[in-house]
Amino acid sequence: MMLKKIEVNFLRKGMYVQELCSSWMDTPFWKKSFMLDDPALLEKIKSTGIKEVWIDISKGLDVLREVVVEVMPPVVELPQLPKKQVAVAFDKIVPVSMDAEMGRAASIVGESKKAVFSMFNEARMGNAVDAENAMPLVEEIAGSVMRNPGALIGLARLKTADDYTYMHSVAVCALMIALSRKLGLDDDQTREAGLAGLLHDIGKMAVPSEILNKPGKLTDAEFVSVKEHPAAGHKMLLEAKGVGKIALDVCLHHHEKMDGSGYPMRLSGDEISLFAKMGAVCDVYDAITSNRPYKQGWCPAESLGKMSEWSKGHFDPVVFQAFIKSIGIYPVGTLVRLQSGRLGVVVEQQVVKSILLPKVRVFFSSKSLSYITPELLDLAGPGLQDKIVAREDASKWGLKDISRYWLGEIVAAKQS
Ligand code: C2E
Ligand code: SIN
Ligand code: FE
Repeated sequence: MMLKKIEVNFLRKGMYVQELCSSWMDTPFWKKSFMLDDPALLEKIKSTGIKEVWIDISKGLDVLREVVVEVMPPVVELPQLPKKQVAVAFDKIVPVSMDAEMGRAASIVGESKKAVFSMFNEARMGNAVDAENAMPLVEEIAGSVMRNPGALIGLARLKTADDYTYMHSVAVCALMIALSRKLGLDDDQTREAGLAGLLHDIGKMAVPSEILNKPGKLTDAEFVSVKEHPAAGHKMLLEAKGVGKIALDVCLHHHEKMDGSGYPMRLSGDEISLFAKMGAVCDVYDAITSNRPYKQGWCPAESLGKMSEWSKGHFDPVVFQAFIKSIGIYPVGTLVRLQSGRLGVVVEQQVVKSILLPKVRVFFSSKSLSYITPELLDLAGPGLQDKIVAREDASKWGLKDISRYWLGEIVAAKQS
């Protein structure tokens, strides 16, 4: 495969189209690859407003070098980036495989978690927060998400009881960035949304840690104290350096609900800003897919299912739909059942090949109800007959801790 991204104007008959670079609003979000052999089809593509496409020049005609927007390089280990980097246009960032991104994503997560920890602790001690150093981190998180969203978003799901709030901040930052892209926001808005995600729960530093870390359900009085965190955070961010309007707004309003039953101001519908609506979706998704002091996490598919049940009163439907698209129909970590009866965990989405044919590590037989030797399958691989027939609920099969099947080496390294 040899992919080049070109402008639609340079498409011509005989080219092999690998993928259309569409915005989510006007076209389905996954596309089959096809040979462009019909001039009418070319006109149709142009009429959708799509600006750029990926072509595969190993399967069809090439263009002149001058018109290529971007070439997909062979995947190589990238060197560690210098700390202060110049902002890159996000759509110039080249996608890489999950494997290629994992190491870098792990170090970005580690670094970000430490930075959030120290910023939040300044706030806890009543000192003014300096968020100016947070933007370069947001930039790094954004870079990783653009290269391969599954890597960092997957890693940030792995939380322990004591780092929950800090990791949750990193995760919501990454989810906000992915969602911003799906909603077609520009680079600056995407950065601001990411920063808002990173800081949205800073007000939890004003909530006693016995409450936050309580293993069980909160009493009404304890929940009253928790409900003060948006306003407390807003106050901290007003005094902070380097925090814009969007982060302030998301911090104050990420617990508002569409039906007006949220807090602190019981805003409803479009009284809630787009960014706060985005914050609500990303916050809840990350909360329920994570192990928290008071509850085990659900897998991504189960979580999206629950959220769509609640979505009517809680979430903006347009934002929620875009969110589902931004994390894909089979996010990394999803438990699926294959036609062969084997159960496995999605290890990597293959956006370019087909979003419906991820890599899956199978480890359980639904026929014999027993574990089998884990095996990595590329459902898009040549000659592979098996396919996904359903998403599955891990608890239904009595399966626990399934994230180890997609993490493999990373978890081993973390625990040693
Ligand atoms: P969090 O754990 O980060 O959860 C954020 C939001 O995700 C929650 O906001 C809620 O909207 C949603 N969410 C999380 N888990 C569930 C769930 O099992 N069912 C439903 N329907 N929604 C869920 P919320 O409820 O305003 O809570 C804010 C924060 O208060 C939570 O942040 C957590 O820190 C704390 N909290 C809430 N309930 C409990 C609890 O029972 N025990 C403890 N220890 N803390 C709790
Ligand atoms: C619930 O158990 O549904 C409430 C807990 C929460 O909202 O976090
Ligand atoms: Fe919150």
